Amino acid sequence: MSSADIAREAAAKEAIKYVTDGAVVGVGTGSTAMVFLRELHRLISNGHVKDVLLVPTSTETEIEIINLGLAHLLRYPWQVNHIDVAVDGADEVDRNKNLVKGGGAALTREKIVDYWARSFVVIVDESKVFDKIPAKHPIPIEVIPFAWPIVKARLEEIGGVVNLRFGSGKRGPIVTDNGNYILDYVPKTEIVPDEAEGFIKRVPGVVEVGLFNGKRVSKVIIGRPNGSIITM
Ligand code: A5P
Repeated sequence: MSSADIAREAAAKEAIKYVTDGAVVGVGTGSTAMVFLRELHRLISNGHVKDVLLVPTSTETEIEIINLGLAHLLRYPWQVNHIDVAVDGADEVDRNKNLVKGGGAALTREKIVDYWARSFVVIVDESKVFDKIPAKHPIPIEVIPFAWPIVKARLEEIGGVVNLRFGSGKRGPIVTDNGNYILDYVPKTEIVPDEAEGFIKRVPGVVEVGLFNGKRVSKVIIGRPNGSIITM
């Protein structure tokens, strides 16, 4: 196991403590969220966690839930009237718990499920924590296909670089679970996350922005390479 795997596992195991019997659980997207899902699967299988329902934040997560044999626990937002806890990863976290998310192009469904949850728990390894965000990752922005050149031009006018996201194994741009494109935005100057989130969201054609407000995050669990955790 690599030290990153140990860190992810430590964070995921701590997050399991937020799942109580009978809970409706939002399940995030990405490698860290999958460590959480597999751990949850283990506890469901051995009877230590009972009667939970799982609301996925992406098709990728939905498929993993099915592949683990948990399709009977799968629910969509319209089939539940609340979510008790959502556990999700992030690309970057700052000291105020603001997040950059969307490296896996799932930001819109993630924000819907994560913000709806009564408790939103973020699990990351130490390498994702920065003083200021965005630090190393661009800000992912989901846009309707018709609007992408206009949104790109508008944001570049303000300052920075915007790239339409392409993925491996496919010709053409990445298409999200919602049939949209992703723009990756590197602002020219430092941003204030919630101001940037609001501003970008007001550009016509933008569906969602991969900046998540720290005030909506209940807990960040940071796994460390030695298997310990810290929380914020
Ligand atoms: C998916 O769109 C993202 O928001 C993920 O939650 C984020 O990229 C973290 O993924 P990893 O845990 O794989 O780093």
